[in-house]
Amino acid sequence: MAKPQIRTAVFPVAGRGTRFLPATKASPKEMLPIVDKPLIQYAVEEALMAGARKLVFVTGASKRAIEDHFDTDADLEKLLEEQGKSELASLLRVLPKYASCIYIRQPAPLGLGHAVLCAQPVVGNEPFFVHLADDLIDAGVPCLKQMATAYAQKGGSVLGVEEVPPTDTDKYGIVETRGAPAKISRIHGIVEKPKPANAPSNLAVVGRYVLTPDIFAHLEKIGQGAGGEIQLTDGIARLMKKQAVYAYRFEGKRYDCGSKLGYLQAQVEYGMNHSTLGGPFRKYLMDLLGATQTAAVEPVPVARARRKK
Ligand code: G1P
Repeated sequence: MAKPQIRTAVFPVAGRGTRFLPATKASPKEMLPIVDKPLIQYAVEEALMAGARKLVFVTGASKRAIEDHFDTDADLEKLLEEQGKSELASLLRVLPKYASCIYIRQPAPLGLGHAVLCAQPVVGNEPFFVHLADDLIDAGVPCLKQMATAYAQKGGSVLGVEEVPPTDTDKYGIVETRGAPAKISRIHGIVEKPKPANAPSNLAVVGRYVLTPDIFAHLEKIGQGAGGEIQLTDGIARLMKKQAVYAYRFEGKRYDCGSKLGYLQAQVEYGMNHSTLGGPFRKYLMDLLGATQTAAVEPVPVARARRKK
């Protein structure tokens, strides 16, 4: 039987991004740019390419910029058109006409599971994507699209996973699979942020999920889990006892843009591959590398150029 197409993507964006303070004091962490596009725009583009049409943002305090970003800005568009800058004006139209945005406010930071539950009234009784914009994935076939294909094959919920260093298990939901590593494996256990000594494996859930609507009934029943939050992982642990849930080893490179190091790595690599900036930026990096290799002291020219207030 053909599986229903996945038309809805949920973006939990209520988190305050404390790891990026002070940058995130008044602006959403999802609006941090990688080169010239905010993280949330990469997220939305990935979901659209996977077939989503209904974009559900679960927002919180200080997140108004996200709504503005996906709204039209007729005045600025008109101004740019009048100035003959049509190309720039077209960059303002970030969404195709067929896409619709729905914003739901998460009343309190009660966890990822709670955020997903907040989306239930607009998701309804259909499978849906969950996308965490912190995890930026560069892939030939967009990660959610790969996962939609896996869902069509298997018919159950699908979680994007990758192996992480065993010392990092306490940063992720960790799954237990059986048998030889495979592209798609059934999950037999899942636990949120276990200490390395207690982790069932080093196969970590990254911020990509295809979930069946059955998840909601389980999320309604669970209480606080790891970190005192209502964890999506705990809802999935209940769901997999009733229906098969699969781990999907996606193809692509993930950048943990929730960490400063991962964010910088993404910035550099997306910069190097950028259609117009890539050439000059790579040359700049080569020159910088040459300078750091030849200069024994004070090796970083960029630091010298920084202005003190
Ligand atoms: C969340 C989930 C976790 C998952 C991770 C992926 O954690 O709770 O299971 O592995 O996203 O990025 P967070 O990073 O929000 O603490």
